Amino acid sequence: MGRIALINNKGGVGKTTTATHLADGFVREGRDALLVDLDAQASASLSLGCEREDLEPSIATCLYEEISVEKVIRTPPGSDVDLITGSARLQNADVRLAGELGRERILQEVLKEVDSQYDHVILDCPPSLSLIPINAIVASDWLVVPVEPHYLALEGVGSMLDTVESIKKEIGDSARLLGIVVTRADFRAKATKQAIEMLRREHGDTIFDTVVRGNVRVSEASSYGTTVFNHSPNSTGAEAYHKLTKEVLNRLDQ
Ligand SMILES: Nc1ncnc2c1ncn2[C@@H]1O[C@H](COP(=O)(O)OP(=O)(O)O)[C@@H](O)[C@H]1O
Ligand SMILES: [Mg+2]
Repeated sequence: MGRIALINNKGGVGKTTTATHLADGFVREGRDALLVDLDAQASASLSLGCEREDLEPSIATCLYEEISVEKVIRTPPGSDVDLITGSARLQNADVRLAGELGRERILQEVLKEVDSQYDHVILDCPPSLSLIPINAIVASDWLVVPVEPHYLALEGVGSMLDTVESIKKEIGDSARLLGIVVTRADFRAKATKQAIEMLRREHGDTIFDTVVRGNVRVSEASSYGTTVFNHSPNSTGAEAYHKLTKEVLNRLDQ
């Protein structure tokens, strides 16, 4: 069993898309995978076909009301993965959980119960480093950081990783960086290649070989409530996420 958190304090970098496709990809490789949507926007849940009116019970139910996770796991319409939905109730998690003892470890406790049922638990985080992502980092064995290959975005990656390190040190946590994945790459822009070269210089083998290009089939799939593996299995998006799934599993199995 291993838990993987998708983190980046920047929004729109492909966290949710990578979380849903790794989870779906793992299931397609015969692994038992659980996806936990920790974002109040619930993009992961919605992009796997859940209805906005039907997001409860969600992970918020477990975090706030000590309801067992087993009771909130469902199979979304668009994938065979097991899912715990996110919901708008996560919006004020910082305030609601602030006074709790061990507030950074609530998610870890909540997920313990289902550890033995899954090979992989994937945590999709909101774009911040506030209490919910901190809970995700603490609950995880591995971190995967999606980045967009834009010069300005790259500058932020180093400082974000430093912040994550200091959070871990403070809490005494041991989640390790599994890798940085370049997503939404557009090679028509000259700066893309340069940005990727810069990333590889700075972070070396931490960067996954697979680069996920911008592909309209990927964004279409989420609006149809499913993954690109279902929506457009022969697309470059499906091929890239298939390759990334294999690469992630290789690193995990080492
Ligand atoms: N490879 C891709 N090609 C095209 N669109 C993508 C790709 N990856 C993500 N997107 C789209 O970009 C937007 C942001 O991606 P998302 O995964 O939600 O980022 P985050 O979770 O980091 O905010 C979404 O609308 C998504 O559908
Ligand atoms: Mg997201």
